[in-house]
Amino acid sequence: MRSDVENKYLIGIDIGTSGTKSALFDTEGHVIASATAEYPLYQPQNGWAEQDPEDWWNAVIETLMRICPAASDGKIVGIGLSGQMHGLVMLDSDCNVIRRSIIWCDSRTAEECKQIEELVGHDRLIEITANPALAGFTASKIMWVKNHEPENYAKCAHILLPKDYIRYKLTGEFATEVSDASGMQLLDIPGRCWSDEVLEKLGIDKSLLAKVYESPDVTGYITEAIADLTGLPANIPVAGGAGDNAAAAVGTGVVECGKAFTTVGTSGVVFAHMEKPEIDKSGRVHTFCTAVPGQWHVMGVTQAAGLSLNWFKHNVAENLSYKEIDIEAESIAIGADRLLYLPYLMGERTPLLDTEARGAFFGLSAIHTKAHMSRAVLEGVAYSLCSCLDVLSEMGVETNDMALCGGGAKSTLWRKILCDSFGISVKTMESDEGPALGAAILGGCAAGVYSSVSEGCKRAVRDGERLSPDAHSTEQYKRFYSIYKELYPALKEQYHALANI
Ligand code: XUL
Repeated sequence: MRSDVENKYLIGIDIGTSGTKSALFDTEGHVIASATAEYPLYQPQNGWAEQDPEDWWNAVIETLMRICPAASDGKIVGIGLSGQMHGLVMLDSDCNVIRRSIIWCDSRTAEECKQIEELVGHDRLIEITANPALAGFTASKIMWVKNHEPENYAKCAHILLPKDYIRYKLTGEFATEVSDASGMQLLDIPGRCWSDEVLEKLGIDKSLLAKVYESPDVTGYITEAIADLTGLPANIPVAGGAGDNAAAAVGTGVVECGKAFTTVGTSGVVFAHMEKPEIDKSGRVHTFCTAVPGQWHVMGVTQAAGLSLNWFKHNVAENLSYKEIDIEAESIAIGADRLLYLPYLMGERTPLLDTEARGAFFGLSAIHTKAHMSRAVLEGVAYSLCSCLDVLSEMGVETNDMALCGGGAKSTLWRKILCDSFGISVKTMESDEGPALGAAILGGCAAGVYSSVSEGCKRAVRDGERLSPDAHSTEQYKRFYSIYKELYPALKEQYHALANI
């Protein structure tokens, strides 16, 4: 029902790992047009992951050109950006990209993490950045370029995150915002500003970094040249936006304590809102600033969630579509006839923090078919997300309202596996635009359409269906999950031996 809605439109742009989505919304969160453009992920070595920032930019232009005409009966008034976190974009003094971006799931920086802990001190690093040194985070990627490509580092005049590179291209401004900047490991998380101490100890010049805003703030305006290129109106505000997970939180209404979501995108995340920056002392989950000014969140990350299924589809089940994989998996009972899958294709973050862990099918028998393997992949990713939820529970983070989102949650079967293995009731959202909707709501705050993030959520976010766990299935999953949890500790030494051959 859009009859009572004024013809003002908002755009959310999400720079994902498999592709970029741009979506046009009315101010009540109804999607008017949406377009996606995909691009490659480069893996030059085992454990490395890179993307070309020009691919992101071309995808942004293409998708904007596709959606903007749908706003011809009104006016686009604000834009918000969201994107894959942690990726390192380096520009030279002419603002050209120096090298391909080293992205979030790249795990080449184990040595640099040790170096960061030595330079800053383990405890002090956690006090300031709320996390131990992690290979996924941007600081270790910067140190890697410093150590391995000094000629590139010498040329570097600007360090940006993926969506902030797009902001620069759209507005000419070098800006970021607290939620995404949290994942750089250079931000003072309680203070919500760059940490001079960490920057000094790592020898990174603060002038390389962008100005930090809160997520709903105006960070710049669409330039005339970009307006001509895309069909956007010139001079409309671009909000700070948020890292993809903090943006998904806004898009699912997870903006107050007690609320949480689980997303199955390329990565998988269990995310809960917090009013204070509580920290897991062993760093198994991340504590970051959230998109609500002055508030935080905690999240556990599965590196290869959708990435596992995508790998399986392309390399094992080559002739099947996602829908067909789902149908095959559904024909197999819980536990896949005693087949377990470990989703550590890109190493693992929560709770292992091990860049050298790798994937495995465990219990493979001659009885097993592609259908069993499909089921095992869906279940293995769910077990990894169960362990994220376990860490949150250990920390005393209460979640009485869990949303499911991301591409994986579009599968009825995967939703059921998640709900039953979590053993809690979950809900879907009316909109499946996730981070793009969250980004658009932040764009609406910047444009003055909403007075606050929470008002934006009240107007534009609506729950979908509820799903309750089946107690018998939950019991069955528990038995497999307890074996799943024992596998990594049993294999840890061999993973490291394998990585070091
Ligand atoms: C979060 C993380 C991923 C990326 C890609 O820490 O690395 O969720 O944001 O989606």
